[in-house]
Amino acid sequence: MSTHSQQYNQELFHFLDAAPTAFHAIEELRGLLSDQGFIELRESEPWNLSKAQGYFVIRENCSLISFILGSEEDATQGFRILGSHSDSPGLQLKPKPAVEVEPYLQLGVEIYGGPLLNPWFDRDLSLAGRVSCADTKGGLTDYLVNFQRPLLTIPSLAIHLDREANDGRAIDKQKALPPLFAQRLGEQLPDFANILKAQVLKQYPGAAIEEVLSFDLFCHDPQQASYLGYNDDFIVSGRLDNLLSCHVAATAMAESNLRHNCLFICTNHEENGSTSTTGAQGSFAEDVLSRILPDIEARQIALRNSFFISIDNAHASHPNFKETAEPSHLTVLNGGPVIKVNANQRYATNSRSAAVFKLLARKAGVEVQEFVMPTGKPCGSTIGPMTAAKLGVETIDVGAPTFAMHSVREVTGATDPYKLLQIIQTFVDSSRIERS
Ligand code: CO
Repeated sequence: MSTHSQQYNQELFHFLDAAPTAFHAIEELRGLLSDQGFIELRESEPWNLSKAQGYFVIRENCSLISFILGSEEDATQGFRILGSHSDSPGLQLKPKPAVEVEPYLQLGVEIYGGPLLNPWFDRDLSLAGRVSCADTKGGLTDYLVNFQRPLLTIPSLAIHLDREANDGRAIDKQKALPPLFAQRLGEQLPDFANILKAQVLKQYPGAAIEEVLSFDLFCHDPQQASYLGYNDDFIVSGRLDNLLSCHVAATAMAESNLRHNCLFICTNHEENGSTSTTGAQGSFAEDVLSRILPDIEARQIALRNSFFISIDNAHASHPNFKETAEPSHLTVLNGGPVIKVNANQRYATNSRSAAVFKLLARKAGVEVQEFVMPTGKPCGSTIGPMTAAKLGVETIDVGAPTFAMHSVREVTGATDPYKLLQIIQTFVDSSRIERS
């Protein structure tokens, strides 16, 4: 592995560990972009934009759009657009999470998106997310909390009590999932709202909180991102889908030469359909574009001159289940970014956009792979097709090859993040945008 790869992976590991939820991911991206001189804009205020400057705007703590107005271009010459999503599938606490099963306190959870549920059992889990509090002056303040330490577990039923467990385990989600959180010691079980309030005060000493009113809290695996394999061949972490892509895109933006127009759209709620104020089906991208280019015709010209790379992890062909992969399109870890193709437009890639990406990869000196499902098998999807449809911009879907997608711990190749970054950097700094 090259020194560049190693150095980049350390930054990526730090980001993965610091971002257990979409809220934390966006907060980290805010820091990453601010450190490189990007200016934060607010949608509720007027904007005064200048060239050769990077900007970003955050919607509701969980989606971010960043853009650069290049020093050498007019906005109508189009944007090099990058897209990723800030959320990952998992378990979200219910509004009144306390489930008392004497003498234990458990927490009720909903399933967020489509996680692989089995790997969530027998893990040391923690809690993180956003807490909305009434403050002592009658206002509302949001706080990001992360308990960090192992706090919860979902114990499996022992094999002796479930002899079928290894032959076909079905999960009764309402019954089997509430994690174990505490046990009665004295008179009463701990009160969850008080626990949250104490955690906010621990992380924000002196915060003038009167009461916790509401929260979006998620279970997460606090085990840190790491190398794995005899030669550090692989990377393992939670939320590689899709924090890997978020970090690659944000890094390319942050390190851009500011000469060319770029736009990075990082939206929430991909894992449950993207229909929200902060999702890719929402108005965020169009709202930001109409602020950059208020004239409709100028905006349309800019979009027709743009090219969109939608980045979301791709399946690597599993060595134990090769029959699930298309034999002539096997994708491997450490094989470089994967171009995702689907005849029914579950991915937005077409021959033209694939060719553009291949040219960029050639320029960057990186090999790419191509993924397609075996004939007749249904295919996943991502933000590419919906953004392509909404904005009418030419699009390709790509991503790092991954095992165990949507597990609590996913696997990618140790060299894959940097290879992806090299292509995205080449795109961001390219002097012309290839397109139809
Ligand atoms: Co994804």
